[in-house]
Amino acid sequence: MTLRVNVVSIFPEMFDALRFGMSGRALEQKALELLMTNPRDFAKNRYRTIDDRPYGGGPGMVMMAEPLSAAIDAASGESREGTKKAGPIVYLSPKGRRMEQTDVESFAALPELTLIAGRYEGIDERVIQTRIDDEVSIGDYVLAGGEFAAMVLIEAVARLLPGVLGNEESAVQESFTSGILDYPHYTRPECFENLRVPEVLLSGDHKKIANWRQNQALKVTKERRPDLLEIRSSIKPGDKH
Ligand code: ADE
Repeated sequence: MTLRVNVVSIFPEMFDALRFGMSGRALEQKALELLMTNPRDFAKNRYRTIDDRPYGGGPGMVMMAEPLSAAIDAASGESREGTKKAGPIVYLSPKGRRMEQTDVESFAALPELTLIAGRYEGIDERVIQTRIDDEVSIGDYVLAGGEFAAMVLIEAVARLLPGVLGNEESAVQESFTSGILDYPHYTRPECFENLRVPEVLLSGDHKKIANWRQNQALKVTKERRPDLLEIRSSIKPGDKH
């Protein structure tokens, strides 16, 4: 199974960064396929203009509806020869609902996904009305464009694709999949700048180790993200989550 990710962006070269690391491996293994579409290729004038001043005035520029919607239709399969749209169209925007690990898991289970990376002050609202299925933010801060946000989404999804991680357990074991923060990790040497690896990790007692890790995870979560524990305790036994 391959997850096909169609990306609409005026800076397709930025996505070359995904050729490294785990997303790079996902691309090599064809667990992930990336197809870029540039709205400039759908511009109507010879200057390849894709933005214009906002109606009503104000700062900045707005991405125009026509080239962007044509690019989205081509990218998503809506106007591809012999195909039709096979997955949701997601617009990366600070106004979107905040992306969580559960959303990443849902995206990773899809056959196809189309990501729209906006620039300037935003995109014409009518494109959102007519083309966008889901508006997603990666956090409460404002980026200059949606490209890095789209890459964050793709990297988070890529590491969940079957066969990509190598060690299938890692993805499920660590932070957020279990709903709390990760426990601390150690490797050789046993002593580094006078700091020893906690004795329990050298004991070979797997039950004790699992217990210690669980306690460490709870401790760091309580200190840094008590909100995550509140969410957990509000889930009643037997609830589906
Ligand atoms: N574009 C600009 N800021 C963003 C954010 N925080 N999340 C997603 N897309 C964005």
